[in-house]
Amino acid sequence: MTKQGRFLVVEGLEGAGKSTAIATIRQWLEGKQQPVVCTREPGGTPLAEQIRTLVKQVHTEPLTAEAELLLMYAARVQLLRNVIEPALAAGNWVLADRHDLSSRAYQGGGRQLDTGLINGIRQTVLGDCHPDLTLYLDIDPAIGLARAQARGELDRIEQEQLAFFQRTRQVYLHIAATEPGIVVIDASRPLPEVQQSILAALDAFWEQGYAALA
Ligand code: TMP
Repeated sequence: MTKQGRFLVVEGLEGAGKSTAIATIRQWLEGKQQPVVCTREPGGTPLAEQIRTLVKQVHTEPLTAEAELLLMYAARVQLLRNVIEPALAAGNWVLADRHDLSSRAYQGGGRQLDTGLINGIRQTVLGDCHPDLTLYLDIDPAIGLARAQARGELDRIEQEQLAFFQRTRQVYLHIAATEPGIVVIDASRPLPEVQQSILAALDAFWEQGYAALA
């Protein structure tokens, strides 16, 4: 039986090394001659990219936490319906730079929005579409933010206090510990070690996939 595409997500705080991880995963998929569609959130369609600009920019009018949440899901539903779902239906792998878990961690943890509110929106937007594997790159926010700062000017969310990112990290870790399909990668280690862990997680997933589909 032909192996169908899978939905892979990379998550983590700013400066955790998502871009490098995505390049590694992309190469791994190419090595296995698997068709891959890469996405990022918020963004990935023309309209969702406009929302990305809106949420990243610093505005004189404060953006409320509720509006931020709704904008994240508005961008997500555009990407899901127009890119992710069609790509998966056509047998591609989808490699996503952030997805739903970001909203649960940043808006639920960082912004402390009600879980019930978030889950209601999630149900409407996501339906049955869930990632098959999520790699969460875990890093101390103090280290991650210093890396992000070294890259250049900080955007609206990156300008939040350390406590915001500590709350965000706690939610990431809590969900990873209590829900299936999320592998925590210690991203504070040297790059070769991080990459080795990513490849080990992918190899294990690949073997499981074959077992399930054989
Ligand atoms: P990044 O993709 O460059 O990390 O930028 C995305 C920013 O948006 C980052 O600060 C995390 C934040 N974000 C949320 O707060 N909620 C979300 O649902 C998503 C997808 C991103």
